[in-house]
Amino acid sequence: MGRAVLEVLAAEAATTAIGAALVRPGSQQVGRDVGAVLGRAPLGVTLSTDVRQALAAVDAVIDFSSPGLTVEVVEAARSLKRPVVVGTTGLDAAARAAVERAANEVPMVLAPNMSLGVAVLTELCERAARALGPGFDLEIVEVHHRKKKDAPSGTALALGEAVARATGEPLATRARYGREGAVGARTDDEIGVLGVRGGDVVGDHTVHFLGLGERLELTHRATSRETFARGAVRAALFLCGRKPGLYSMRDVLAG
Ligand SMILES: NC(=O)c1ccc[n+]([C@@H]2O[C@H](COP(=O)([O-])OP(=O)(O)OC[C@H]3O[C@@H](n4cnc5c(N)ncnc54)[C@H](OP(=O)(O)O)[C@@H]3O)[C@@H](O)[C@H]2O)c1
Repeated sequence: MGRAVLEVLAAEAATTAIGAALVRPGSQQVGRDVGAVLGRAPLGVTLSTDVRQALAAVDAVIDFSSPGLTVEVVEAARSLKRPVVVGTTGLDAAARAAVERAANEVPMVLAPNMSLGVAVLTELCERAARALGPGFDLEIVEVHHRKKKDAPSGTALALGEAVARATGEPLATRARYGREGAVGARTDDEIGVLGVRGGDVVGDHTVHFLGLGERLELTHRATSRETFARGAVRAALFLCGRKPGLYSMRDVLAG
């Protein structure tokens, strides 16, 4: 995703500029010019490992990494007062707390999916869950490439939270992650969340509404990572000049 974001920024050089780019300490890429990494003319910005120095050099920061680095990034963003877009998923409670602390002091977008289609899918699912009511069972299936590190996807969890919100108790008390063995009959309240991994799938999400004699399935398929990168850049531009707080992709798309 880091490369995809840099590609979008380089392609939109008329409106945005790359001020810094981070890689892991020890990476063979440290010190390389970002332009050269992208197969373009040199940009005069080199890949570095110093989070604070990188944030000091930019107006806003976009993070797609791992929960450990996300905490470092949001804490540096908080102390340097930089808007921050977090796309990293699989955040644990401590990472979420760090994100929320930072959002009290700087404008932030935290979104497990930066695509326009998923923002609309989330709204449609909420509406469908409310309209169909308790007679329909809710199941969510996500498919991702074989290298994805967290499961279920952050998007599947966000969709689960949306349909849970529309129908009663929160996802935390209703989620059923995968099924195995003599699980017995399905309960009315549970929301199944199932992950499939393989190949190079960018990301598919289907929310199933399963009733008696009929079913509704709402699906989003991402076919390019550039979609997420474009959404993240749009979010970063949206945040510049905003008040501190946690904004959603819906806010970005509306703004
Ligand atoms: N919100 C969205 O729309 C969206 C879309 C796609 C992906 N994502 C999420 O974004 C995250 C990244 O996805 P990806 O597919 O790009 O994963 P990836 O291919 O594993 O890339 C993560 C990058 O972050 C670097 N990194 C991780 N921890 C680091 C650390 N502590 N210090 C410095 N660099 C570090 C990794 O370096 P190494 O290679 O050296 O480990 C790697 O270059 C995941 O959580 C994924 O679920 C979100």
